[in-house]
Amino acid sequence: MSKFFALIPAAGFGARMKTNLPKQYLSLGGRPMIYYAVRTLYLSPDITNVVVILSPEDREWLKYDWSEFSSKLIVLNCGGETRAMSTLNGLMAISESSLIHDEDWVLVHDAARPCLSEELLKRMLDELSKDTVGGLLAVPISDTLKRSGINDRVQETESRKNLWQAQTPQMFRLKLLMNALCKPNSVTMTDDASAVEALGLYPKLVLGDVRNIKITYPKDLSLAELILREQQGEV
Ligand code: CTP
Ligand code: MG
Repeated sequence: MSKFFALIPAAGFGARMKTNLPKQYLSLGGRPMIYYAVRTLYLSPDITNVVVILSPEDREWLKYDWSEFSSKLIVLNCGGETRAMSTLNGLMAISESSLIHDEDWVLVHDAARPCLSEELLKRMLDELSKDTVGGLLAVPISDTLKRSGINDRVQETESRKNLWQAQTPQMFRLKLLMNALCKPNSVTMTDDASAVEALGLYPKLVLGDVRNIKITYPKDLSLAELILREQQGEV
């Protein structure tokens, strides 16, 4: 039986957030943002370990008490210059242990997506655990798409047919994902599926949820707070 591991790349600095504190530690509902991703993955009965990849320069993680998650948590200070490098470094580190095998599943989930629900995570595991390639959460685009030309004037309206927005988790088997991410072109790819696609494979799109937002800009924080409050049944 294949096991399921979660890996949270959390070695970025959140440049677009324009705060001194790396965004994964910004306060959300009284907790550092990364707390929610760790918690949801930890709570899944199917996931055996949650691996957090921090920057070697991280000064924040140890300021918090993570003991409630200690039975599953593995923390590694091996983050790299890009998300793909952080993820690959983490995969290489765990692959050297006897905990994980080539065919075990790895769910890579952004520290900056605190609103992943337990239900959505379960749906993904149910839909993909028998898949030969693996896949990712994504939502079909609902807005009309415009391509801009000069001076932000519309040059063209694009069809949104068959277009999806990629989310995380993205779930692939350990060996496949390592093979994909170690290709030179993968270094700058902003998700795991792109690297797998570049091998000529077709990851499965699993219907995600618009509430599984990624926090990128300051305005995203208040929306995340509302979503979390609703999920916790406080609204
Ligand atoms: N990440 C990482 N290592 C990097 C860059 C990003 O582990 N060198 C992680 C981030 O910490 C985040 C996830 O990848 O959890 C998604 O990346 P993104 O939202 O782009 O975060 P940042 O790169 O930190 O933000 P920005 O692009 O605005 O600098
Ligand atoms: Mg980034």
